Amino acid sequence: MRLDKFVSHSCQLTRKEAQKKIKLGLVSVAGKVVNQIAYQIAADDDIKVENQEAALVQHGYWMLNKPTGFICANSDPHHRTVFDLFDKNIKGKYQKKTLQIAGRLDIDTTGLVLITSDGQWNHCVTSPNNQCPKSYRVELEKPLNSHDKNILESGIQLAGEKKVTQPAELESLHSNIWNLTIYEGKFHQVKRMFTAVNNRVLNLHRFKIGELTLDSALEPSAYRPLTEAEILSFNFPGQANG
Ligand code: URA
Repeated sequence: MRLDKFVSHSCQLTRKEAQKKIKLGLVSVAGKVVNQIAYQIAADDDIKVENQEAALVQHGYWMLNKPTGFICANSDPHHRTVFDLFDKNIKGKYQKKTLQIAGRLDIDTTGLVLITSDGQWNHCVTSPNNQCPKSYRVELEKPLNSHDKNILESGIQLAGEKKVTQPAELESLHSNIWNLTIYEGKFHQVKRMFTAVNNRVLNLHRFKIGELTLDSALEPSAYRPLTEAEILSFNFPGQANG
């Protein structure tokens, strides 16, 4: 792993902040100051940042196949939450309140939800600046004509928003069943987009976020930890892989 990535993760710093500390000579590996940000560290290297031992924070990352009837919140007085689907041991280990949802779904929307204890990673997935693509299978009340398809793809004004939506992609599976990919995540965005062309979403299912597709082996309500490759697939500009 690169030294700047290690310092960023272990000290909860941005990649830029970590690089600054390294360049200032505040980081040592096995007792020697190293000021190359891309220096490759070994798993057993003893690393100190400002003379303090640094270690990687062990975070948890999962994908869940959300069923209907559960809300994406840490707690709710009236509804079951996605955390009620999680094993009590996990909730205890990471303390329920520190687990975060990287991109919420409505109570009646199904599919891919990412859950983590890593706030920085959550930010990578959800920050509007990163324009992470999210793909949904949308079942509509009425067929979608090519005029409305073009409007939705090029950007549409939603009630209460200052700007039109960013360009989106629509792929037909049937005249009223479509795959939609959007690059932002406004409140109820998909439903509002189709309402804006006088249609209505009957069923909504998210199957992809970034490069990550919902695992077809996960039944509704099931979840699994992400692999390292899946976690690292969300490295964005400024968070270069290494
Ligand atoms: N857009 C919606 O309208 N609802 C969701 O759950 C997700 C995206």
